[in-house]
Amino acid sequence: MTDQIQAHSRQAGLTIWLTGLSGAGKSTLAALLTDRLRERGLAVEWLDGDELRRTLGRGLGFSREDRFENIRRAVYLAAMLNRHGVITIVSVISPYAAMRSYARQELPGFVEVFVDCPLPVCEARDVKGLYAKARSGEIPAFTGISDPYEAPSDPELTLHTAERTPEECVEELISWLTEYRRYPL
Ligand code: ADX
Repeated sequence: MTDQIQAHSRQAGLTIWLTGLSGAGKSTLAALLTDRLRERGLAVEWLDGDELRRTLGRGLGFSREDRFENIRRAVYLAAMLNRHGVITIVSVISPYAAMRSYARQELPGFVEVFVDCPLPVCEARDVKGLYAKARSGEIPAFTGISDPYEAPSDPELTLHTAERTPEECVEELISWLTEYRRYPL
């Protein structure tokens, strides 16, 4: 076996699934984690909610059905990438427990990471100005305001982004992967 093939079979089947409210820090952590893993020479892809919705999920809205469809497409792509030995980082709100169970069932190396940040902190950050619009009613069915977010009851890992820096959170995640999953990163 060549080194390259070993590298691929070694890292097959890992999806790091970041779930949490809008503004909780999912994309920030995903970007940083992508960099950290690529620095180690690993094949990594990052599927982000906003980008998926501009591309594969174009036209999907935020009803329960559309959010499920969005997640189904992300899972399909993650499964395909995993089969080719690509570590896949998915950062999507994925507000329903049932959709995360579906992802867990479909993806053999599924790691659920709850990016936990209190709603008032997300709202105060309001990075994209969407919470203000949700409060005024301009954006309907906004997660955490006028639409549900079912917090994970048993995630592999919870990262508290209001209390730790993004660097600390990513270090914690990488340590968890290597120590508990015994994943050779
Ligand atoms: S999910 O519910 O289907 O998992 P996803 O992560 O893809 O959501 O997209 C969420 C992003 O869409 C948010 O970060 C925000 O920028 C934007 N957005 C627009 N409308 C809404 C809404 N009603 N609820 C949540 N996010 C919204």
